[in-house]
Amino acid sequence: MTDSSQPTNAKITVGDSELELKTWPASIGSPAVDISKLLATHGVVTYDPGFANTASTRTAITYVDGAKGTLRHRGYSIEDLAEHCTFLEVAYLLLYGDLPNRAECDEWTNSIKMHTLLSEEMKRFFDAFPRSAHPMAILSSATNAISAFYEAYYDPKSEDAIKESTNRLIAKMPTIAAWAYKKSISQPYIYPRNNLTYVENFLNMMFGLPVEESEVDPLIVKALNVLLILHADHGQNQSTATVRFVGSSHANLFASVSAGMNALWGPLHGGANQAVVEMLSSIHDDPAMTVDKAVARAKDPDDEFRLMGFGHRVYKNFDPRALILRSFADDVLAKMDRDDPLLDIAKQLAVVAREDDYFVSRNLYPNVDFYSGIIFRALGFPTRMFTVLFAIGRLPGWIANWIEMHDDPATRIGRPRQVYEGIVTRDFKPIEER
Ligand code: ACO
Repeated sequence: MTDSSQPTNAKITVGDSELELKTWPASIGSPAVDISKLLATHGVVTYDPGFANTASTRTAITYVDGAKGTLRHRGYSIEDLAEHCTFLEVAYLLLYGDLPNRAECDEWTNSIKMHTLLSEEMKRFFDAFPRSAHPMAILSSATNAISAFYEAYYDPKSEDAIKESTNRLIAKMPTIAAWAYKKSISQPYIYPRNNLTYVENFLNMMFGLPVEESEVDPLIVKALNVLLILHADHGQNQSTATVRFVGSSHANLFASVSAGMNALWGPLHGGANQAVVEMLSSIHDDPAMTVDKAVARAKDPDDEFRLMGFGHRVYKNFDPRALILRSFADDVLAKMDRDDPLLDIAKQLAVVAREDDYFVSRNLYPNVDFYSGIIFRALGFPTRMFTVLFAIGRLPGWIANWIEMHDDPATRIGRPRQVYEGIVTRDFKPIEER
């Protein structure tokens, strides 16, 4: 269904000539003006740093309305999904377009359980990293490395190959993530246990020990389930756009997802959850630093310091995920009987920023990373694992987008243009004359 009030054409004047441009209607949200023929017809390219005004694809997976603070997957609100679903149900929804019924859900869950083990050779791969390695470095490398075991499944046009690779990636990601952590603390790797749920199994591999039976706290399971759902997909965010971009060269699914993980690692994207807690800790630990000083530094145009966890490319009102997490953070900390001074600092920052004209006029609100780090911390995860947890959550979104891209007949290899501003031509000089 499309909105009949949306424009069906647009015109652009370049020099003396005018060109009629096709538009692509959206079922909801901004329609797009199709500029794909502009270079061929008028010899000009479009300039859009950070692609902030460019729709790189048409999609039916996730809808984000930054002004209203709306996030929906396949039409379902993030609030409903977070309250009622398991992470694997949401993964199924993103991948296959509908929530699974009971039989579909059982079959899907079992097909994931079939693949939770890593090849034993991969143990040596983990061993080769230094103990100090950042778990994101291990996660992205291991994700790429496991592609070496499944070369028969690279074909992006084979439905069976994609299904197998999808199941393998979703099944193995918690194992890789937990083993990356175990490596960093020199503890034995814990094998997956298929009698546990997806989240329970991950927690058991993270925090369990081979010397004793351990119980997984249901409160932590519930909280992590919600956190993974809140991270599951988010339109054409930077890591998803990277997965599509790399995949458009027909790079295999594992390699494409690994590239997306590296994009996610950056502190301006998924790495922000780690950066938020580090920033809050520095305010807490440094007697010379206060909330007011942090805000003043963030506002100073000559200081590169930013309030981590504030601002979003799309949300210019509020981030609905942050809203869910704000009350969730209080709840989790209370139930876990934890009093975290960092949460108090976070709340003070949120209040100061909400009342400060610099932040208000720029629409800078707390984003999902602002609260997720505090909750991950309360659940017992070390700071350096936060972005890894984001990656486990975002995985179904990356894969769903990769699949949609390959199904779309309009897909071409991603290859932007540029406006060249350098020296036009020079006479070559041999090295002795330079
Ligand atoms: N602290 C202080 N000032 C900020 C912040 C911040 N966190 N974020 C943006 N600004 C300012 C900029 O300096 C700029 O000010 P100016 O107009 O005076 O030059 C203005 O707000 C607009 O900022 P841009 O960087 O142009 O906004 P953009 O959409 O390109 O960037 C981003 C969005 C990267 C999220 C940015 O807000 C930021 O760096 N935030 C901190 C990192 C963060 O929390 N990232 C997580 C994002 S959510 C996610 O990836 C899951």
